[in-house]
Amino acid sequence: MLDAGRAPTPVSTAISMVATLAPAVVWPGLPTTLFTYGSTYPSPTLRVRRGDVFDLRLENLLPEATNIHWHGLAVPATMDGHPMDVVAPGGFQQYTFDVQDRAGTYWYHPHPDARTAAQVWGGMAGFFIVEDDDELALGLPSGAQDVPLMLQDRRVTADGSFSYTPGPMDLLEGYLGEVALVNGVPDAQLTVAAAPYRFRLLNGSNARIFRVAFEDGRTFHVIAGDGGLLERPLPATQVFLAPGERAEIVVDLSREQGSRSVRMVSLPFTGGGTFAGGLPQGTALSLLRLTVQGSGPASVLPQRLIRLPPLGRPEVARRFVMDMRMPPVPGNFWINGRSFDPTRVDTLVERGVVEEWEVFNASAHPHPFHVHATQFRVLSRSGGPLRPHEMGLKDTVLVWPGESVKLAIRFERYAGVYVLHCHNLEHEDAGMMSNFEVR
Ligand code: C2O
Ligand code: CU
Ligand code: CU
Repeated sequence: MLDAGRAPTPVSTAISMVATLAPAVVWPGLPTTLFTYGSTYPSPTLRVRRGDVFDLRLENLLPEATNIHWHGLAVPATMDGHPMDVVAPGGFQQYTFDVQDRAGTYWYHPHPDARTAAQVWGGMAGFFIVEDDDELALGLPSGAQDVPLMLQDRRVTADGSFSYTPGPMDLLEGYLGEVALVNGVPDAQLTVAAAPYRFRLLNGSNARIFRVAFEDGRTFHVIAGDGGLLERPLPATQVFLAPGERAEIVVDLSREQGSRSVRMVSLPFTGGGTFAGGLPQGTALSLLRLTVQGSGPASVLPQRLIRLPPLGRPEVARRFVMDMRMPPVPGNFWINGRSFDPTRVDTLVERGVVEEWEVFNASAHPHPFHVHATQFRVLSRSGGPLRPHEMGLKDTVLVWPGESVKLAIRFERYAGVYVLHCHNLEHEDAGMMSNFEVR
């Protein structure tokens, strides 16, 4: 059995990275070629400190254009990996920005117009972890007890490749796989000590929504969402994670002495269709088997984690309607009745002004709504209470069919053109995306 613990190696700032096709073995005995950053799958984990100047040179040796988007971070528009801001084959780009976002689990992935889904599915996505003094002072599980877990799904192919061949029904529902991969490993297992663990969960799938839980139904604590820590740990037995979302959980395994095994699973749910390839959305999946061996350092979860900045009163209201129509082909996926046109700016926002956005899903499929360049707060969802990982800063929020979600949002530092979009990558590539300009 393969080990999800062979986590990608951390890299520090001032680095170079090559986007390239590279050999990999995902399914035992079936060597293949993947799309990669840095010749590894998943892509290298980048760990930086808040306040660092991050400096990365991307060289593109792929046979097609690519770029990097720093998902969740506020960076200048020219550094953000806008769908039209791509690196041609053989070219390079320097990505430089200061890391101002608070400690948290961010990530990076390609974002070229209409090719994001194929390149992410092909193997390009990695963690971008920010640390800061406030967080380090809390004494949360660290070192070997701090484990990033990238959750994805893939189809099983005869040649072991990540071949990507979406049909119209795959655009409708998103490209769904048949097997869950954790840090690039199917049937993943991780040997852990009997100690509290911090798992940084990232849903890096194209379309799969995970409902993460433990097979024994145990309670854990959600400590962070997309943009870092919550104000306090919130007990939970499951966390719904749509593509693009992150949640950090602390699971106490310190009473599991004696080689017990605990399984992390995705629980079944309804709310997606059944027409596309792969396993239907909402199918129960096994994610990761934790094998407990020996003991590890104890740690006490603080009652309070951080203080979130006060929201401020919204001065501007906007509404975004996510919709699609048949047939499911590019151009029929909309935000506010229009499909993505890279040359059209649909929304102008003023820096520093708090806005209230209502995001309405007028379609029969779930859509994770994602906004670049800032973190927002979720105010309410019409379908029920906020979930624990929605109680802090967010950049991606799942909107169920017929549901309306309200956000408080403010853009702070950079002017320029950014995108907002559905993070179902097939929907995004088919046009459920829109330019907005910050002034
Ligand atoms: Cu992770 Cu514009 O996306
Ligand atoms: Cu993003
Ligand atoms: Cu969508």
